[in-house]
Order: sequence, then C-alpha cells, then structure tokens
Amino acid sequence: MCGIVGYLGDRIAREALIDGLRRLEYRGYDSAGAAFHDGDRFSVARETGRVENLAGALRESDPQSTLGIAHTRWATHGAVTVANTHPHLSHDGKIALVHNGVIENFADLKRFLMRKGVEFSSETDSEVLCNLIAHHYAKLEGEENRLLEALRKALARCRGAYGIAVLCADQPGLMLGARRGSPLLVGLGEGETFLASDASAFVGRVRDAVYLNDGEIAVLQEDGFRILTMEGEDAQAVTQTIDQTVEDVELGDFESYMEKEIYEQPTALENSILGRFGEDGTTAKLGGLEGHEDTLRQLDRIVFVACGTARHACMVGEYLIERLARVPVEVEHASEFRYRNSPKAGHTMVIAASQSGETLDTLEAVREARIKGLLTIGITNGVGSSLARETDGGVYQRVGPEIGVASTKAFTSQVALCGMLGLALGRMRGLSPMQGREIAEALQALPAQVSSILQHGEALRELAQKYSEAEHLLFLGRQELYPVALEGALKLKEISYAHAEGYPAAELKHGPIALINPECPCIFVVEDGELAGKTIANMQEVKARKGPVLAIAPEAVAIPDEAADDIFRIPSSHDITRPILATIPLQLFAYHFARIRGLDVDKPRNLAKSVTVE
Ligand code: AGP
Repeated sequence: MCGIVGYLGDRIAREALIDGLRRLEYRGYDSAGAAFHDGDRFSVARETGRVENLAGALRESDPQSTLGIAHTRWATHGAVTVANTHPHLSHDGKIALVHNGVIENFADLKRFLMRKGVEFSSETDSEVLCNLIAHHYAKLEGEENRLLEALRKALARCRGAYGIAVLCADQPGLMLGARRGSPLLVGLGEGETFLASDASAFVGRVRDAVYLNDGEIAVLQEDGFRILTMEGEDAQAVTQTIDQTVEDVELGDFESYMEKEIYEQPTALENSILGRFGEDGTTAKLGGLEGHEDTLRQLDRIVFVACGTARHACMVGEYLIERLARVPVEVEHASEFRYRNSPKAGHTMVIAASQSGETLDTLEAVREARIKGLLTIGITNGVGSSLARETDGGVYQRVGPEIGVASTKAFTSQVALCGMLGLALGRMRGLSPMQGREIAEALQALPAQVSSILQHGEALRELAQKYSEAEHLLFLGRQELYPVALEGALKLKEISYAHAEGYPAAELKHGPIALINPECPCIFVVEDGELAGKTIANMQEVKARKGPVLAIAPEAVAIPDEAADDIFRIPSSHDITRPILATIPLQLFAYHFARIRGLDVDKPRNLAKSVTVE
C-alpha cells in the first residue's frame, strides 16, 4: 500500500527513483511524485495517475541531483489530486517527506500546527507529519543532529503507522528513514544507498540490505549509514542478501504480472514443497515448526487468521487439516479476530497466512494472539516481513515476488503448505505411513499436473470470451472446493469488476437460485467420488432454470450432456490436491475475462497489493 524509494549516491537520482517506482507501482498507482535536493532547496514533481506520467515530467525537468525521495500512492487521506500526492514539503520549504501508513492523531496535530500559523495545502496526514518535523527542526536551531532530533521529537507525538523517508533542505548529504508498522529497508550499493519500502525497488542495483525493525530510524549519509532506536541509541544492523533477481521482478515475455505469476505456478509449487518431506517419504518436515513439536502433539485447536485470498487458502486448509490430522480448525477474518474476545480453549495454535507478511489486520491479529499467550505461526512469502519477525515460528512460501495485485501463485502455495502441515500433524496422530506416503506423492505430483492444465490456456480464453458479457456470475463447490469457488469469484470481481459470488453448491437452493437466468452463468467446481453426483444435481437445477453452466471437473467424473454447457477438465487427483488443480482454470478464466474487457489486470481500480492500513 504505497511505495517509497529514496536514493543517495554518486549518480543522478532520477533514473534510480523512477526505476524503483515502476517496480513499486503494484503497491499503489493513484499518483506518484519525487523530490530532489537542489542546492539549498527542493525541486519537486508530482503527477496523478501512473508512474509513467511522473517519468515524462522528470524527463522534461531533468533534475541533476544525486539525492532524492519518491513515492507511489494509494490514497487513504484525501482524494487523488496533485496536492495530496507525495512528497510533501513543509510550509517553510525545509523538510521533504514521503510516507506510507496512517497517522491516526493527525487531526489533533494539525490543529496544533495551525495554531502556530502553519498553512496546509493538502488533506493528508503525511503533510501534517512533515510540518511537525519542520516545527521541531525550527525550534532546535544550532543544536547537534538537528534533523534527527526533530524527527525523533515529531514521531514521539504520532500515533499510528508509518514508513517514512525524510530530506532536509539544509543538509545535502543526509536522508533519514523511520518505521513503525510499515516496512522499510536500506539497500547497500557501491557508492550508493537506497531506502525503500520493498526490496524490489532496488533489485539489480543492490545485493545487500538491512531491514529496519519497528521503532527504528535509518540515518543515510554519503559515507555510510546507521540504524538507531527511537531513543537515539545505536541498534544492530543485520545485513541480508536480497534473493530476488531482475527476472523475478520483470515481465519478460508476459503481458502482465498476473499472467506471468499464473504460469509460474509449477515452479512456485515445486519450490514451496522442495526438501520439506521426511526421509521415509511419509510425512512433511517444516523447519519453521521445529522446537514446537510438543505443542503440536498436544494441539486442541487451530485458528487461522488472514485476509482476502490468503483467507480462502486457510479455508481450504481447514478442510485438509481436519481431514488429515483430526484437529478442530477455525478460520477467522484477521480484522474480526483482533477485536473479538474468542474463548481460550486448551492448546490453541494461531496460524497467520499472508503473502506480503505486511497486512496490518493480519499482523494485529497475531499481536492479539500473542498477548493471549498463544503459539503463533506464520505462512508468508515475505522474507524478513513483519509477520516473519513477529511470529513464534513459520513457513516461507518461496514462490518469488508476487507483483500482480490479484494473488495467484501465493494462493496455491499456501494451500499446498496447509496440505503439508496437515500431513505433518496427521502423522503425529492417526495417519498411517501408507496414507502419509500417498499424500506426499500427491503433493509432489502437483507441479506436473498444474503444467498440464496451463497448456490449455487457449481453451480457457475461449470460455472467458463466451461468458465475457455476463455482469453476474456464481461460483459453486462443495467441501474444500467451496473456498476454491470463493477464490474464483474474488479473482473475477477484483480484476473484471463483474459481480461474482461464491457459495457452497448446496446453498444454491437456499437463496442464490433466485438469481439464475440466462444472463447469470454458474461456474461449478466438481469433486470426484460420492459428492460429484450431488454437485451434478445442483448443476441440473441451474440448467432447469435456463442458467448457463460451466463445469471444472476431474477427468474421471462423467457429466451428463444436459447438466453443463461447457466442461473444462482437470487431471484426476487425490482430494487433498484437487483444490489447487481446480483453482488454476478459475485464475485463467478471470484473467482472460478481464483482458477481453480491456482491463489492466495488474492494477485493478481501488486495490493495493498490500493493505497496511485498517
Ligand atoms: C488477492 O487477490 C487480493 N489482492 C487480497 O485479497 C489479498 O489476498 C489480501 O489483501 C491479503 O494480502 P496478504 O496475503 O499479503 O496478507
């Protein structure tokens, strides 16, 4: 949600900042801006719309500064206008600031500053923070470390979340950063240093980085950097090698990141499960759970907390873990869990799933669980993310950066990891070695099976074309395919803006069937075995009311001609892996449906990749 990049080095900052913003655009794409230190003042460019608009403006103004900060915005406080676009300058022109997050007490602080005569030009909380720093800076005239002290004093008065980068007109070789609740890291290059909200901003330019912890300040100077606590004490700076490559963050031959990431799923799944099976091949070994074996054996209950697509993955996990390990599982919206006083029952483990590892609602749910003394485990793709740092243990997804706003490879990987967790917990309980081996083999077969589905992308494009006029669609499935139906509906609505809902197939008769008419296609994801017949009966109920039916069904399931208008086949598989196989066609269907409508699937309206506000 919003992206920050700052540059201090021996090259002209413009190119590095624009490249960084292009890579961060998936974080926010309402407007973008940059401020450059220019003698004893700032030159600022701000444009609404995409980063390319800003790039065009900067090509014309051609700033030559080697120190600058830039931002791509997803609006929280104030509409999408140039005035609300970052960077913000203080009223006296001394301070330039970019900010991710929300300053909750901004209204009080703004009143305070207005009483001091400060005039504001935007509606943002960020401009308030910028002026608050300027206010303290003015009061500290003549003092040592004046900007740093002003920053510390200002932040001490703020409630809320921030990741910020700050420049001062009086200090041409200094950039400050600070984080609380919103990620920030320092990228260490040859003769140049970056500050960014996400490593993708400087991949290809920098190999090593230092992730700031909450409550830390970064001081970047021409001769190096320091990490400090909010109290101004030196903090430990742990250098990590960035494992992303330029190929990970560039489109290559694909038209969009969403398409690229859909097609990356065989490799992503392979990486997610690689090396995570026991030597005898009957169980899963998740390194991040080591040391917690006693608790895992005694578990009475698992509570998943997550948002959006990650929550759908957890809902599949609920079915898988209960089936394999016979442990009661609940799935909560993270945003609800944190405000609920859910009763403490026996040995409870809280599992938080989040692709980014930075979703605020999910993090707050984890913090609440920790206050209640519960074991917390994270499933995340965000290496070094807040979720990874704040949980007792965890599992990295290892799928590479997911840049498309619509989550695809992160979902299937999370489902696979839930299957692995179910297998590990199951083997600690009643699951036999033979059953364990069968499940391990089913999981290992996934990459090849997913590849075989991806070869039929053209068939899914034709199906999407056929149904692309529809404004209302229903997605239906039973058991572990019910959350798959929810995910199919979410994917479609978030990138195509068509109205889509997911239901358990049998729920159709309890209300949604009233919507059925020839203009309302129903997409059924069909199980194998006993339940398939019941779902086919539900399909026939739709057909009897002249509703179009598209079935996503395993090869082995016979579907009568009169039950479906179209059938897309997926390989027959173990029940445990079917949710993943059934998801792939739904992702491609949504992707083509939106593309046929001429929409930008990577930057759907109103959405941001990582939601770091409540
Ligand atoms: C998925 O397509 C959405 N963009 C969204 O629901 C997302 O899954 C949700 O915001 C959670 O994100 P996270 O996995 O990074 O926590």
